[in-house]
Amino acid sequence: KMNQFVSTLLKKMTLDEKIGQLNLVTGGEATTGSVVSTNVSGKIKNGQIGGIFSLTTPQRIRKAQEIAVNESRLKIPLIFGQDVIHGYKTTFPIPLALSCSWDLPLIEKTARIAAIEASADGLNWTFSPMVDISRDPRWGRISEGNGEDTWLGSQIARAMVKGYQGDDLAKNNTIMACVKHFALYGAAEAGRDYNTTDMSLNRMYNEYLPPYKAAIDAGSGSIMTSFNDINGVPATANKWLMTDLLRNQWGFKGLVVTDYTAVNELIDHGLGDLQTVSALSLKAGVDMDMVGEGFLTTLKKSLSEGKVTLAQIDNACRLVLETKYKLGLFDDPYRYCSEERAKSEILTPENLKVAREAAAKSYVLLKNENQLLPLKRSGTIALIGPLSDTRANMVGTWSVNSDLQNTKSLLEGLTEVSGSNVKILHSAGANLAADATLQANATMFGREIKRDDRPEEEIIKDAVNIAKKADVVIAALGESSEMSGEASSRSDIGIPETQRHLLEALLTTGKPIVLVLFAGRPMTIKWESEHVPAILNVWFGGTESARAISDVLFGDVNPSGKLTATFPQNVGQIPLYYSHKNTGRPLADGKWFSKFRSNYLDVSNDPLYPFGYGLSYTSFNYGNLKLSTSTLSPTGTLSVTVPVTNAGKYNGEEVVQLYTRDLVGSISRPVKELKAFKKIFLKAGETQTVTFTLRESDLRFYNNDLKYVSEPGDFKVFVGTNSRDVKEADFKLVK
Ligand code: IFM
Repeated sequence: KMNQFVSTLLKKMTLDEKIGQLNLVTGGEATTGSVVSTNVSGKIKNGQIGGIFSLTTPQRIRKAQEIAVNESRLKIPLIFGQDVIHGYKTTFPIPLALSCSWDLPLIEKTARIAAIEASADGLNWTFSPMVDISRDPRWGRISEGNGEDTWLGSQIARAMVKGYQGDDLAKNNTIMACVKHFALYGAAEAGRDYNTTDMSLNRMYNEYLPPYKAAIDAGSGSIMTSFNDINGVPATANKWLMTDLLRNQWGFKGLVVTDYTAVNELIDHGLGDLQTVSALSLKAGVDMDMVGEGFLTTLKKSLSEGKVTLAQIDNACRLVLETKYKLGLFDDPYRYCSEERAKSEILTPENLKVAREAAAKSYVLLKNENQLLPLKRSGTIALIGPLSDTRANMVGTWSVNSDLQNTKSLLEGLTEVSGSNVKILHSAGANLAADATLQANATMFGREIKRDDRPEEEIIKDAVNIAKKADVVIAALGESSEMSGEASSRSDIGIPETQRHLLEALLTTGKPIVLVLFAGRPMTIKWESEHVPAILNVWFGGTESARAISDVLFGDVNPSGKLTATFPQNVGQIPLYYSHKNTGRPLADGKWFSKFRSNYLDVSNDPLYPFGYGLSYTSFNYGNLKLSTSTLSPTGTLSVTVPVTNAGKYNGEEVVQLYTRDLVGSISRPVKELKAFKKIFLKAGETQTVTFTLRESDLRFYNNDLKYVSEPGDFKVFVGTNSRDVKEADFKLVK
């Protein structure tokens, strides 16, 4: 039915109208480049626009849709997109944080709520999930992904797509997902945003591509090309990527959209003038051109000069029209425009409850010496730091629709949650950063942190005097919202110096200090981890984060987050990730340095905090692993069981992680690969036997012929509380 409908419509369309459908413009609410769309209503009337993004509210969207369906010749409705990345008005933790919950149903629920709120506000398309694997915390956009692990990243990609799209794209409370950025955007050299990527096919297929594929297999209706080049060919003009791999190998049937002005940027990549690069892009497999209007202004000429074919234009146009059909827009172009829904379905108490739960579950307790946490609900607390009283910096990057009015600062949240027996004193204690660029970047999207122009020593002195009056100090330090995210790469990923000076001064008081670390990336906090007794990494938790941080600080919620990206000791160790290869000269376990082994003279190979790491207020003991068999056949299963005991005083959740190692293969294989996990709840004193089932299919990988195979031989299986602290056992895979 859809084919017939679209074919009939295509036949009625002029060439200009077809090209018009390929044009995606911005409504102007959030722009991330220098180009802004102009004369949007005029172009809609002329059939020169297929979709708009960054325009919200049913009223405004209805207005634009009315122009399309009443005033354009063929009355083709528009699609409306937006970067709904980690929630809509109810904002959830940044994706990196959310991934640390290891809670797939919860992650799916946050995407579902985001879809309900966004669609209630008129949208039908989100540019999410971002599933770029990144092993470089200098890259600011590591905050928008799910960390370093391919397998976990793939599970999360699936959950997000399901959450957004539900089981029917045409329902008025589902929105189309757009998996991004295809491909390898997270592997930008030196962690510098938009930079080159160059990678073996072996690594691509095994480590970087699976999450995109998982999102596509889960039905993602669209995909966004990335800005970077891949082995010399920019993604947005990469035929191998978009046609051979995406369409032919993976069978993708949805819509390919570029990133913001990515077609135009091919000029700077050195591929030619606007006409040339637009033609290249279309031929490579792009359907929709975001903002740059290269397609709109040059494709007709390219067709007349034989540089593209009508079939290529028709094909792209067909995919745009099919998308609109699937979203139900031809049946009812206003199906997402309901003022009543906008009033009743956004920022509901139920949604906020999930936001509070998700935030608390995303926090990672990095250190808790002498059980400093949880705090007692009595006495005096000094809350100090430039991030202690800012609402805008609770929500993190890409939260353009966040409702900051209803977001509490940590000071406000702590005051509310602590109760009447706690006295809270407060001081900012430092500017966010002395560095002008960091400070200026932090003011984007109205997220300014008040600046104090007094000399640093004076500001710190005030804070120290306040700290002296308290029983315990909470230091709210780290990054502001815009110090991570797009175009926010850093070469020094430590706490900015001004704040570090403050922390040093606070430590001289001898008061117990809890560092509440705001971060959009793994940070280098070696010094802090050596000197501060308790560190709770809270990332950017979203609308309810102030309350959620307080819930965790007072022990109403026992932290259970586990890192999904390794914390390095210093920047020189990057890229540092748990699933590295062994090398021919591995360093022996427990060694710091051996001459002529793979290591550094000045730092051990160990991370500061490994992948999968995170403490709880209770402690979990792992018993020995039991395997149901020592040989696994291609049709068989292998059960791995392990008793886990909550040996502490608090009830708590634990993420039990299973890794394998393929000891001998036709290509070198990682020293550990995550293959499964279970998140369990144990009451204090309780023991649970956790069972995993492994199959031959879990042991497959892409060999050097890019065949997805398993290879018989010796394997290790590891189970533990993180990727480092594990119990192990051996088994064989037999043919
Ligand atoms: O979706 C984003 C993308 O992630 C980065 N550039 C801008 C796009 C649209 O806002």
